[in-house]
Amino acid sequence: MNVQTIRKKFLDFYAARGHAVIPSASLVPENDPTTLFTGSGMQPLVPYLLGEKHPKGNRLVDSQKSFRAEDIEEVGDNRHTTFFEMLGNWSLGDYFKKEQLPWVYALLTEEIGLDPTKLYVTVFDGDADLGIPRDDEAIKIWEKIFTEAGISSKVAIIGSEQKGYEKGMSEGERIFTYDATKNWWSRSGVPENMPDGELGGPDSEIFYDFGTEHDTAWGAHCHPNCDCGRFIEIGNSVFMEYIKRGGTFEKLAQKNVDFGGGLERIAAASQDEADIFLATDSLRGTIETLENETALKYADHLESFRVVADHLRGAVFMIADGVRPSNTEQGYFVRRLLRRSIVKVNKVKPDLSIVTLVPQIIASYQSHYPELQSAQKEIEEQIQLEETRFKATLARGLSKLEKLLVRHTDTSEVPAEDVFEIMTSDGFPRELVQEILHEKNVRTQWHEVDALVDAHQAKSRAGAAQKFKGGLADSSEKTTQLHTTHHLLLKALQMVLGDQVKQRGSNITGERLRIDFSHGEKLTDEERAEVERIVNEKIGAHLPIVKTVMPKEAAEKLGAEQEFGQKYPDMVSVYSIGELDNAFSIEFCGGPHVENTGDIEGVFRIAKEKASSAGVRRIRGVLE
Ligand code: ALA
Repeated sequence: MNVQTIRKKFLDFYAARGHAVIPSASLVPENDPTTLFTGSGMQPLVPYLLGEKHPKGNRLVDSQKSFRAEDIEEVGDNRHTTFFEMLGNWSLGDYFKKEQLPWVYALLTEEIGLDPTKLYVTVFDGDADLGIPRDDEAIKIWEKIFTEAGISSKVAIIGSEQKGYEKGMSEGERIFTYDATKNWWSRSGVPENMPDGELGGPDSEIFYDFGTEHDTAWGAHCHPNCDCGRFIEIGNSVFMEYIKRGGTFEKLAQKNVDFGGGLERIAAASQDEADIFLATDSLRGTIETLENETALKYADHLESFRVVADHLRGAVFMIADGVRPSNTEQGYFVRRLLRRSIVKVNKVKPDLSIVTLVPQIIASYQSHYPELQSAQKEIEEQIQLEETRFKATLARGLSKLEKLLVRHTDTSEVPAEDVFEIMTSDGFPRELVQEILHEKNVRTQWHEVDALVDAHQAKSRAGAAQKFKGGLADSSEKTTQLHTTHHLLLKALQMVLGDQVKQRGSNITGERLRIDFSHGEKLTDEERAEVERIVNEKIGAHLPIVKTVMPKEAAEKLGAEQEFGQKYPDMVSVYSIGELDNAFSIEFCGGPHVENTGDIEGVFRIAKEKASSAGVRRIRGVLE
């Protein structure tokens, strides 16, 4: 079965069991300042797992776009990707283990047709320090499921991963218990790492046995959690019933189930194809195009082809969700994904543009993610722009590197500071520098270069961490005033330049607002003055700001302004400036805002107006 079929089977299976199908949230978390990307289906649902009522009820199902930046370096083997779709079903204080485990088993074996003798499961072994016992309930349920299916169901008490490698697996064993490093799930990992107020719980994972030979490089014996690639985790039922408070664990008011299944890994299992790059249509498509374009064989270039297929797809989805290549936050990762792809392609076929690989990716996802197709032009433009920029960077870096080598022809070593400078000021990639130095037989102290890079990155990360992800730097009084001004400004731009003007990005601090908007030309002096005049007029008019929660369709009917690339839930909050039925501006927005435009202090002025990318202008505005 391919991913389209499995996605549909999964959604239908749970819909038939009373689950409401909800759309995937954006890859950029909306109200979660703790993380740059949505990395699991659970993140957008945290408030509901904590007890808030979900408008769609307490049984939900979806396929969530996810991105795990921490896996960038892992890409290259047969199963790791940065972007993936996580199939999820949720019980928000409704059903629990005795429904969840038989359902997931029935789904995998009856609906998707996996051979049950190739499934192995793990459960939580318990933790005396936490005062949480072994999950005997889950063990009993699994024993019953496998026994009824006529399959051996012996339990193996393992404990640590290390013990797994020592003990291996004996005949008939199917249910394995592991400690919290393997069978506990929270956004921050093991219980010790969870901050106060974080929720988590024991989980039960399902592994598919691809039957490949064990590689003893990983440990003496194979076991479900062995990393040799024989067993691949395809799904995880988290029994989310704990919250950390004052360093200890308390039961939540409700017992939740959070199931997450890797769509592509399930496809791989259903095809008995351990390489998810071959089992997934879109990834295989990129690989085939690369083979055709370069006349090289995938089998001889596994790592590079996988990196290109994964990275480019990740960048496509991210750009569709409104992220633009840049040096900070989410944009930094899009840039990194694109640049790594360019480097890989450049090596095998320098005249091949990565843009030519994009249409096939979009086509293979268009039925479930129509946002890709509507953003196709923008996606291709952004990627083209980045490719052009980066190729110029490469040329500059190369020439600097050559000069550096000429300066040091008398020795076989170049200073780490110079290498660091070329890498950071020009964004020239480490692997290229390494290759060129290697070719010329020149050394540098790489540990020194890396230390300089680490220190440099730590500095920029600290800056990024201060930033609140909704586009607001904080929620101080001045920032809030500028946020309301931002709404006034967008409307004023539409009045002066035309209704086709849309917001493409925003960022607000206590000092200034910044808006990126679609418009092809520089504003004339008259247009600028008119925009400023309208904004200041509305500030002077003392209009109330009204928040209303309503169904998404109703907000759309009102013509409420939406953020580019953002997917909204069924119930949304909108802010109108002026009463809703007589509003100057209406936007989908999470706030915060001032109560009345009269609370905005000062006079609005456009401090700067310039191009931000093709067809997009950027304004910096201040209140003076
Ligand atoms: N939230 C769980 C995971 O990501 C299902 O594995």
